[in-house]
Amino acid sequence: MATRAHPVDPHLCSRRPRGAQNLRFSLWILVSCVLGGAAQGPGEWASWGSWSRCSSSCGRGVAVRSRRCVRLPGEDPCWGDSHEYRVCRLQDCPPGAASFRDLQCALYNGHPVLGTQKTYQWVPFHGAPNLCDLNCLAEGHAFYHSFGRVLDGTPCSPGTQDLCVAGRCLSAGCDGLLGSGTLEDRCGQCGGANDSCLFVQRVFRDAGAFSGYWNVTLIPEGARHIRVAHHSQNHLALQRIDGRYVLNGDAELSAPGTYEAAGTQLVYTRQGRQETLRAVGPTSQGLLLQVLLLEPNPGVHFEFWLPRERYGPFQAHAQALGWLPRPRQPQPREVEPQPAETPLVPVAIPAQAPTLAPDSCPPCPDTRGRAHRLLHYCSSDFVFQARVLDRHRQAQETRYEVRVLLIYKNRSPLRTREYVWAPGHCPCPPMAPHREYLLAARRHVSRDGTQDRLLLPHAGYTRPWTPAEDSRIRLAARRCPV
Ligand SMILES: *[C@@H]1O[C@H](CO)[C@@H](O)[C@H](O)[C@H]1NC(C)=O
Ligand SMILES: *[C@@H]1O[C@H](CO)[C@@H](O)[C@H](O)[C@H]1NC(C)=O
Repeated sequence: MATRAHPVDPHLCSRRPRGAQNLRFSLWILVSCVLGGAAQGPGEWASWGSWSRCSSSCGRGVAVRSRRCVRLPGEDPCWGDSHEYRVCRLQDCPPGAASFRDLQCALYNGHPVLGTQKTYQWVPFHGAPNLCDLNCLAEGHAFYHSFGRVLDGTPCSPGTQDLCVAGRCLSAGCDGLLGSGTLEDRCGQCGGANDSCLFVQRVFRDAGAFSGYWNVTLIPEGARHIRVAHHSQNHLALQRIDGRYVLNGDAELSAPGTYEAAGTQLVYTRQGRQETLRAVGPTSQGLLLQVLLLEPNPGVHFEFWLPRERYGPFQAHAQALGWLPRPRQPQPREVEPQPAETPLVPVAIPAQAPTLAPDSCPPCPDTRGRAHRLLHYCSSDFVFQARVLDRHRQAQETRYEVRVLLIYKNRSPLRTREYVWAPGHCPCPPMAPHREYLLAARRHVSRDGTQDRLLLPHAGYTRPWTPAEDSRIRLAARRCPV
């Protein structure tokens, strides 16, 4: 065969260059591959033609573009659509102008239709089943007639954003393409994967000893999809950056409803003891979320999505102000449910021996190695350098009080001082007081929502801090971005 003289790299046969300048090249490959018997399968799209003019003369309409399927004998039809429709927008139509559909019905005014010499004045009729048929009502008469499909770009019905294309009613994705189904992600990116922002989610648990307003968090500028909820006699309050209240200020309750602040709409609901606050955002300035305490605070849950670049300043601000002012688990005595199996008579509880020397713990499994580090870096919510200030062993878990020194990764703000919990009386790997470590922790909220903790999993990642360890973890960070 002649083609044997021009063998084509088999890799080229499975690779399909794109773009007009590549067309000749790709045709050459296609021809060579097909003659060489290497490629079967679908044809290749030629590049898109240019967009047509906007279908309307003012307001919204559609533009279309198409592409051709280049098929060689034996090849299947190309995959995908040959036409693409996008919404186009011209200057607004003058007030009172006839709608696109009005114009299309009016084309039949004064013309004999329906096989008789009678003529009518036609206006759109919106009660018919197919929205994308040109259904027009004969003015002064009780019948309508369908004149076939409406023109592309006609709104499906008055007041909707959806447009008719080839007789079908389609909505535009955020990319402007009709019927693409592309949505905005939580960060406001069209078709994004939620990766240009960070999710902040916390439970504010400060059980304040006094009643009055308590700062819960700053909701920074740029926050999206804000949700706040609690279940108690207390009330949420919201303050603008300049100190003016949006909601429930000056100990006066606001009515549930929709409030406008920071460039977004806030929906505030109150039902019995349950209050919620929601906003889509993005906020155009910071808002200060507070709680008006009338009874001990069982927890205010809040969450929002924050652009990555706003996260650092937010965290610094939160830490500088000491929010949330007290440790996550205020007093283990108050919040900690007693383990059910604790005997009522405090005799002979061997596990509860705070004086037990560390040495009496069995050896830990070997958790060294790059794979282990990478695994824990990627799967943890927090990776940070910390100094252990105190260690408190309890029957079933160990609580470390740490000072956070350097944060490599966090899904929500860390305060300077945190409690970190590890399962068991002899956690693995162990940490000793007054030493510095690199640790990877997870956030754990108990099912009933009463505990929100930083947890060190058994055989997780806890290493004495050294400069070498620091560079290794930075390397891991690059392999597994937040
Ligand atoms: C973004 O996050 C939201 C909420 O968690 C989720 O419903 C959605 O599927 C995510 N989108 C993508 C593309 O991952
Ligand atoms: C709450 O935060 C604001 C703004 O940072 C500050 O001015 C105010 O004193 C704080 N209030 C309380 C009760 O801590």
